[in-house]
Amino acid sequence: MEPSLVQQRQSLRQHIRRLRCSLSEPQQFAAGQQLAEHAILFSPIQQAQHIALFMSMDGEINTRPLIARLWHLGKSVYLPRINPHQPTTLLFQRFTPQTTLVKHRFGMMEPEENCDECRPFTDLDVVIVPLVAFDSDGQRLGMGGGFYDRLLVNWQEAGVLPIGVAHNCQHQDTLPIQPWDIPLPAVITPNKLWQWGNKEA
Ligand SMILES: Nc1ncnc2c1ncn2[C@@H]1O[C@H](COP(=O)(O)OP(=O)(O)OP(=O)(O)O)[C@@H](O)[C@H]1O
Ligand SMILES: [Mg+2]
Repeated sequence: MEPSLVQQRQSLRQHIRRLRCSLSEPQQFAAGQQLAEHAILFSPIQQAQHIALFMSMDGEINTRPLIARLWHLGKSVYLPRINPHQPTTLLFQRFTPQTTLVKHRFGMMEPEENCDECRPFTDLDVVIVPLVAFDSDGQRLGMGGGFYDRLLVNWQEAGVLPIGVAHNCQHQDTLPIQPWDIPLPAVITPNKLWQWGNKEA
């Protein structure tokens, strides 16, 4: 019997998470550097002032070199925090070299709560999006929480450009998608800038 869509998505997640976790330290290091170099040459990032990123975990491509470059360029950087009052949604809080990070129980590093430093999603210019896999049409498979699908429902209307970042090995020809999955208009990998037409705001 054909595995269900849910099973296909789960086994693909497991497979690709293992692949990215098996990259060596030097491969991980080089990937993070290459990502940063490509990303700062991408015009939507060059033009953006308020940029949300995420702290890498679980073999995800290292976003630290990119964050350092963005700080150096004078950009304002934000990190997601799970909204304690509405735990299916994300808040974005300013991240500077002075910010204290704390580990959320789901494993990711978040800025210590300070709501004065939060910026509404619609006032961001670019959101750098984590993913487990992406395909040749810009479809995206995340870790399974639905956080970014909920966040990005109205990204065009909000005027916020989502950009995925991933290792090369996270690309698949076609993903088993669900109706609620939000495709991305761009994904940056160490080797390539992927873009899909007419999805920009
Ligand atoms: N716009 C939405 N509104 C309400 N629930 C949603 C929405 N989008 C996704 N979900 C729910 O989130 C759950 C997880 O979705 P999915 O498996 O696509 O997560 P994901 O894309 O891998 O995760 P993430 O977006 O956090 O990276 C699903 O049960 C789905 O019903
Ligand atoms: Mg999804």
